[in-house]
Amino acid sequence: MALLPLLYYPDPKLHTVAKPVQAVDARIRNLIGDMLETMYDASGIGLAATQVDVHERLIVIDISEHRNSPLVLINPEIVWASPEKQVSDEGCLSVPGIYDGVERAAAVRVTALDRDGRSRTIEAQGVLAVCVQHEMDHLLGKVFVEYLSPLKRNRIKTKMLKARRETVRA
Ligand code: NI
Repeated sequence: MALLPLLYYPDPKLHTVAKPVQAVDARIRNLIGDMLETMYDASGIGLAATQVDVHERLIVIDISEHRNSPLVLINPEIVWASPEKQVSDEGCLSVPGIYDGVERAAAVRVTALDRDGRSRTIEAQGVLAVCVQHEMDHLLGKVFVEYLSPLKRNRIKTKMLKARRETVRA
Protein backbone atom coordinates (compact mmCIF):
# COMPACT_ATOMS: atom_id res chain seq x y z
CA MET A 1 0.00 0.00 0.00
CA ALA A 2 1.10 3.55 -0.58
CA LEU A 3 0.08 7.09 0.20
CA LEU A 4 -1.23 8.81 -2.92
CA PRO A 5 -0.65 12.51 -3.69
CA LEU A 6 -3.83 14.59 -3.39
CA LEU A 7 -5.06 17.20 -5.84
CA TYR A 8 -5.78 20.57 -4.23
CA TYR A 9 -8.42 23.11 -5.20
CA PRO A 10 -8.34 25.01 -7.57
CA ASP A 11 -6.50 22.33 -9.59
CA PRO A 12 -8.53 22.04 -12.82
CA LYS A 13 -8.10 18.25 -12.73
CA LEU A 14 -10.59 18.22 -9.83
CA HIS A 15 -13.23 19.12 -12.41
CA THR A 16 -12.72 15.94 -14.46
CA VAL A 17 -15.83 13.77 -14.80
CA ALA A 18 -15.01 10.19 -13.76
CA LYS A 19 -15.77 7.17 -15.95
CA PRO A 20 -17.32 3.96 -14.61
CA VAL A 21 -14.96 1.31 -13.23
CA GLN A 22 -14.86 -1.40 -15.91
CA ALA A 23 -13.82 -4.34 -13.72
CA VAL A 24 -13.31 -4.80 -9.98
CA ASP A 25 -9.90 -6.42 -10.40
CA ALA A 26 -6.52 -6.44 -8.65
CA ARG A 27 -5.71 -2.94 -9.94
CA ILE A 28 -8.90 -1.52 -8.42
CA ARG A 29 -8.40 -3.40 -5.14
CA ASN A 30 -4.86 -1.98 -4.90
CA LEU A 31 -6.23 1.49 -5.58
CA ILE A 32 -8.87 0.99 -2.84
CA GLY A 33 -6.13 0.01 -0.37
CA ASP A 34 -4.05 3.04 -1.27
CA MET A 35 -7.06 5.39 -1.10
CA LEU A 36 -8.04 4.09 2.35
CA GLU A 37 -4.47 4.50 3.60
CA THR A 38 -4.36 8.04 2.16
CA MET A 39 -7.73 8.95 3.70
CA TYR A 40 -6.79 7.63 7.16
CA ASP A 41 -3.37 9.29 7.02
CA ALA A 42 -5.03 12.65 6.27
CA SER A 43 -7.72 12.09 8.96
CA GLY A 44 -10.47 12.38 6.36
CA ILE A 45 -13.87 10.67 6.49
CA GLY A 46 -14.15 10.27 2.73
CA LEU A 47 -12.06 10.28 -0.43
CA ALA A 48 -13.01 10.11 -4.09
CA ALA A 49 -10.66 8.67 -6.75
CA THR A 50 -10.84 12.07 -8.48
CA GLN A 51 -8.89 13.58 -5.56
CA VAL A 52 -5.93 11.28 -6.26
CA ASP A 53 -6.11 12.04 -10.00
CA VAL A 54 -7.76 8.74 -10.95
CA HIS A 55 -10.90 9.50 -12.93
CA GLU A 56 -12.97 6.40 -12.28
CA ARG A 57 -16.17 6.14 -10.23
CA LEU A 58 -14.82 4.97 -6.88
CA ILE A 59 -15.14 6.43 -3.39
CA VAL A 60 -14.07 5.32 0.08
CA ILE A 61 -15.68 6.49 3.32
CA ASP A 62 -15.21 5.82 7.02
CA ILE A 63 -17.30 7.82 9.46
CA SER A 64 -16.69 5.46 12.39
CA GLU A 65 -15.18 6.81 15.60
CA HIS A 66 -12.45 4.16 15.65
CA ARG A 67 -11.60 4.43 11.95
CA ASN A 68 -12.16 0.74 11.36
CA SER A 69 -15.34 0.54 9.27
CA PRO A 70 -14.38 1.37 5.69
CA LEU A 71 -17.15 1.67 3.15
CA VAL A 72 -16.14 1.20 -0.49
CA LEU A 73 -18.55 2.33 -3.22
CA ILE A 74 -17.71 1.48 -6.83
CA ASN A 75 -19.87 2.98 -9.61
CA PRO A 76 -22.25 4.52 -7.03
CA GLU A 77 -25.61 5.85 -8.18
CA ILE A 78 -28.15 7.79 -6.10
CA VAL A 79 -31.47 6.04 -6.75
CA TRP A 80 -33.49 8.09 -4.25
CA ALA A 81 -32.98 11.35 -2.37
CA SER A 82 -35.27 12.62 0.39
CA PRO A 83 -37.14 15.87 -0.28
CA GLU A 84 -36.05 16.95 3.22
CA LYS A 85 -32.79 18.89 3.22
CA GLN A 86 -30.13 19.41 5.86
CA VAL A 87 -27.40 22.04 6.09
CA SER A 88 -24.10 20.94 7.60
CA ASP A 89 -20.56 22.24 7.74
CA GLU A 90 -18.37 20.43 5.24
CA GLY A 91 -14.66 20.26 4.70
CA CYS A 92 -12.57 18.51 2.06
CA LEU A 93 -9.08 17.02 1.93
CA SER A 94 -8.62 18.90 -1.36
CA VAL A 95 -9.50 22.25 0.27
CA PRO A 96 -7.59 22.06 3.56
CA GLY A 97 -8.63 24.35 6.40
CA ILE A 98 -11.92 25.45 4.82
CA TYR A 99 -15.28 24.55 6.34
CA ASP A 100 -18.66 25.92 5.33
CA GLY A 101 -22.34 25.05 5.32
CA VAL A 102 -23.83 23.16 2.37
CA GLU A 103 -27.46 22.13 1.91
CA ARG A 104 -28.04 18.55 0.76
CA ALA A 105 -30.71 15.86 0.87
CA ALA A 106 -31.12 14.61 4.46
CA ALA A 107 -31.20 10.98 3.29
CA VAL A 108 -30.21 9.11 0.13
CA ARG A 109 -30.40 5.57 -1.18
CA VAL A 110 -27.36 4.51 -3.21
CA THR A 111 -26.58 1.43 -5.25
CA ALA A 112 -22.94 0.49 -5.81
CA LEU A 113 -20.53 -2.42 -6.13
CA ASP A 114 -18.42 -3.33 -3.09
CA ARG A 115 -14.71 -4.28 -3.19
CA ASP A 116 -15.69 -7.85 -4.12
CA GLY A 117 -17.72 -6.60 -7.06
CA ARG A 118 -21.05 -7.42 -5.41
CA SER A 119 -23.98 -5.09 -5.92
CA ARG A 120 -25.38 -3.49 -2.79
CA THR A 121 -27.85 -0.83 -1.75
CA ILE A 122 -27.11 1.60 1.07
CA GLU A 123 -29.51 3.81 2.97
CA ALA A 124 -27.66 6.84 4.29
CA GLN A 125 -28.72 9.65 6.56
CA GLY A 126 -26.99 12.20 8.78
CA VAL A 127 -23.21 12.45 8.36
CA LEU A 128 -23.09 9.43 6.03
CA ALA A 129 -25.65 11.00 3.67
CA VAL A 130 -23.61 14.22 3.59
CA CYS A 131 -20.38 12.33 2.97
CA VAL A 132 -21.79 10.13 0.19
CA GLN A 133 -23.21 13.15 -1.65
CA HIS A 134 -19.98 15.15 -1.17
CA GLU A 135 -17.80 12.30 -2.51
CA MET A 136 -20.15 11.55 -5.40
CA ASP A 137 -19.97 15.22 -6.39
CA HIS A 138 -16.18 14.79 -6.75
CA LEU A 139 -16.82 12.05 -9.34
CA LEU A 140 -18.82 14.61 -11.33
CA GLY A 141 -15.95 17.10 -11.09
CA LYS A 142 -17.64 19.19 -8.42
CA VAL A 143 -15.95 20.52 -5.27
CA PHE A 144 -18.14 21.62 -2.30
CA VAL A 145 -16.94 25.24 -2.48
CA GLU A 146 -18.92 25.52 -5.73
CA TYR A 147 -22.09 25.60 -3.59
CA LEU A 148 -20.83 28.76 -1.85
CA SER A 149 -21.24 32.32 -3.10
CA PRO A 150 -18.84 33.47 -5.85
CA LEU A 151 -17.35 35.94 -3.36
CA LYS A 152 -16.55 33.22 -0.82
CA ARG A 153 -15.31 30.89 -3.54
CA ASN A 154 -12.90 33.50 -4.90
CA ARG A 155 -11.57 34.20 -1.42
CA ILE A 156 -10.96 30.48 -0.92
CA LYS A 157 -9.29 30.19 -4.33
CA THR A 158 -6.91 33.06 -3.50
CA LYS A 159 -6.14 31.59 -0.07
CA MET A 160 -5.45 28.13 -1.54
CA LEU A 161 -3.17 29.46 -4.28
CA LYS A 162 -1.23 31.50 -1.72
CA ALA A 163 -0.91 28.48 0.60
CA ARG A 164 0.34 26.34 -2.32
CA ARG A 165 2.95 28.93 -3.27
CA GLU A 166 4.19 29.04 0.32
CA THR A 167 4.40 25.24 0.40
CA VAL A 168 6.43 25.19 -2.79
CA ARG A 169 8.79 27.85 -1.39
CA ALA A 170 9.25 26.00 1.90
NI1 NI B 1 -13.97 16.40 -0.74
